[in-house]
Amino acid sequence: MKPCCPAAAWLVCVLALLACRRHERAAAAVPTLSTASRWVVDEGGSRVKLACVNWPSHLEPMLAEGLSKRPVGAIAAAVAAMGFNCVRLTWPTFLATDASYGELTVAQSFQRLNLTESLAGIRANNPDFAVVSSLGKHDVMVILDNHLSKPGWCCSNTDGNGFFGDTYFDPDVWVAGLKKMAAMFAGVDNVVGMSLRNELRGPRQNANDWYMQLGAEAVHGANPRVLVILSGLSFDNDLAFINSRPVNLSFSGKAAFEVHWYSFSNSQEWGSGNANQACARITAGVARRALYLLDKGWPVILSEFGVDNRGGNTNDNRYYGCAAAAAADLDMDWALWALQGSYYLREGVRDLDEVYGVLDRAWSGPRNASALSRVQALQRPLRGPGLDQVPPYTVLFHPVTGTCVLRRRSPPLELGPCSETEAWAYSAQEQRLAVAPRDGSSLCLRAEGAGKPASLGASCGDAMARWRLVSDSKLHVATSSSAAVDGDGALCLDVGADGRSVVTNPCRCLSADNSCDPQSQWFKLVTSTRSVAAEQTMLAQLPLKLKNWKIRSF
Ligand SMILES: *[C@@H]1O[C@H](CO)[C@@H](O)[C@H](O)[C@H]1NC(C)=O
Ligand SMILES: *[C@@H]1O[C@H](CO)[C@@H](O)[C@H](O)[C@H]1NC(C)=O
Ligand SMILES: *[C@@H]1O[C@H](CO)[C@@H](O)[C@H](O)[C@H]1NC(C)=O
Repeated sequence: MKPCCPAAAWLVCVLALLACRRHERAAAAVPTLSTASRWVVDEGGSRVKLACVNWPSHLEPMLAEGLSKRPVGAIAAAVAAMGFNCVRLTWPTFLATDASYGELTVAQSFQRLNLTESLAGIRANNPDFAVVSSLGKHDVMVILDNHLSKPGWCCSNTDGNGFFGDTYFDPDVWVAGLKKMAAMFAGVDNVVGMSLRNELRGPRQNANDWYMQLGAEAVHGANPRVLVILSGLSFDNDLAFINSRPVNLSFSGKAAFEVHWYSFSNSQEWGSGNANQACARITAGVARRALYLLDKGWPVILSEFGVDNRGGNTNDNRYYGCAAAAAADLDMDWALWALQGSYYLREGVRDLDEVYGVLDRAWSGPRNASALSRVQALQRPLRGPGLDQVPPYTVLFHPVTGTCVLRRRSPPLELGPCSETEAWAYSAQEQRLAVAPRDGSSLCLRAEGAGKPASLGASCGDAMARWRLVSDSKLHVATSSSAAVDGDGALCLDVGADGRSVVTNPCRCLSADNSCDPQSQWFKLVTSTRSVAAEQTMLAQLPLKLKNWKIRSF
């Protein structure tokens, strides 16, 4: 292999792309990002929705995971084919600042950990492995995420990497590492952002010593082109303190915040509460601690969320529909946890299976196609600068399946791809949910009875055509036919036994009942300003790409 990097800094170069490849620019350019109020935008001011997936490179081997299983180019192609436009690529500070890590060759790093099988796999699959440039070739943007200092699994309160001043977390070393990485990637087009530190935490954490602004200035000074992404306290669950201590940066239009949201931050509530009440309370908490910054004109990236893709974790399952409803409602930028199907070595275990991974353990295809597909429903932007194509309309989004309510012949309404959405109009005052076909008429959504398909009709005045959003979560769309205000005894939109048709059933699990799962009845009324026709043009391209990918099995 041509020694583009000095032999010494080999690992850093591998994470990167070899320095000499800077000149091999991807043909179709990725955008340079900045911010316009809460939106991330390109050079022309049009919205770029970050739909990222996390790809760790911060564990002991210090190499992007999976390279022992598949060629890097194939993994990068899969990321793009699955519709992710961006990767949050994690790295440990010491890779950049500590010669005893950064000067190891890949072989030394793996041999030191006795990862001989992984090393053999890497040699077989990846004689040449430039992660960032491979992503660039597929127009995938990269956010470099400083995940911790000392390479290893993250994060605990007591691992010495949690907060400024902890054993492995010297603020000066951190700033030096950020500067070095920012400078190293300053010429690399598809590195569009740097998140400054993952999940601050632990007994020392406090708002006074939150040095994110130092890191932000350091990165911006070394590479003013990248978006700098600031994280909060308590495992990046908490940015509430920014409300009374606004950030003060020397530059503008280049900074965003990030927040993490998992079910295990609220295990107790998801585990023992009513799902509607838990969803309402937890969503309000996330808003109070982080998403309020959207209204203050900052982008807030949901840079880690995800579930056990085997479908057996009840808390995760309840959380997912709730979090996806919020993400769709706010049309958030996000990064799913995670891409990797396995780890070379995690917490002492070799080839550990990652059940949150989009890819299977062999990195050969999706672990769970339906779980992937419902995440893909969140990839397309719905509004924001450049997307104000038509007056706002409503999308009837079904978060737990990642589908939307569409008109069909029989049954009249069905769940299908959100890119084929109808332009619904909801009037809370008239309690009317109508769709306007192009002939100028208006058809109202109607309930026909328990267990029966919902219909569309010209008659809009009666109780069966009046709809309210009920339950604490407000995710139940219920008829007004009952006197009970909370929806008890009313009919709610639901999914039929075939898994596709839209029916009405008695509203379920509205409150009190802690064991039942309401999610088939959860619909989020989401606002979009995208032209419906444009959506359908886009869709025509997407499945083809996915199909090709499946055939080739990358
Ligand atoms: C690697 O193997 C050697 C020899 O068996 C052993 O002494 C060493 O502790 C092992 N190192 C790790 C990190 O497992
Ligand atoms: C912001 O920072 C600048 C430069 O450090 C300083 O001069 C200014 O007083 C600060 N503003 C506020 C509101 O703290
Ligand atoms: C795939 O994910 C869905 C959604 O969470 C779940 O219901 C299903 O059980 C999962 N299937 C497998 C085979 O893991």
